[in-house]
Amino acid sequence: MKKKTFISIILGVVTMLCACLAVGCGKDDGADKIPEGTNGKVLVAYFSCTNTTKGVAESIQREVSNSYLYQITPAIPYTTDDLKYYTNCRADREQADPTARPEISGSVENIEQYDVIFIGYPIWHSQAPKIIYTFLESYDFSGKTIIPFCTSASSGMGNSGTNLHSSAPNAIWKSGCRVSSSSDIDTLVNMQ
Ligand SMILES: Cc1cc2nc3c(=O)[nH]c(=O)nc-3n(C[C@H](O)[C@H](O)[C@H](O)COP(=O)(O)O)c2cc1C
Repeated sequence: MKKKTFISIILGVVTMLCACLAVGCGKDDGADKIPEGTNGKVLVAYFSCTNTTKGVAESIQREVSNSYLYQITPAIPYTTDDLKYYTNCRADREQADPTARPEISGSVENIEQYDVIFIGYPIWHSQAPKIIYTFLESYDFSGKTIIPFCTSASSGMGNSGTNLHSSAPNAIWKSGCRVSSSSDIDTLVNMQ
């Protein structure tokens, strides 16, 4: 092969490699969403009694790279009777009591490794269940991004997300949303 042809081939390969690096060739979509200056680990924490919020949390976890699921499990599980709302059931009484903080069984290991935390819950009387307040008040979320999401029979998210801010005042709170479709999940994932 002539020296000139050889040099042209080498130059061509180098140019292709540079172009590839410039457009982020080989990076997946999730990796692009990792916030700068962080290790990008994401926790998808959720509370769910009848599995609706659980299903949404699992979908989010599948969509977000480097993410981990954590189920917020009550120390005393909610029975069917505990959830019969508008009957003065356990859940009704807790939601009416500003001081209620139902105990959680277990804890998140090494919470400091997470930069972004999605927190999912069912709407209970237009608000997050009190166990979500217990969860937020159990760790230091300073400087971490928190993205709330909820499911419900029909209500919107309302002020359920903003009412959680005081339980983790030094977190970076995103608005979050109620999830009822896959496009809502895309919206949430893009809030990272
Ligand atoms: C105590 C209680 C209160 C509720 N309050 C509301 C409400 O205000 N608005 C609404 O649309 N759904 C309400 N729901 C229905 C739940 O938000 C809905 O079924 C939710 O998707 C259940 O999530 P899960 O399966 O993850 O537990 C309530 C349910 C319970 C148990």
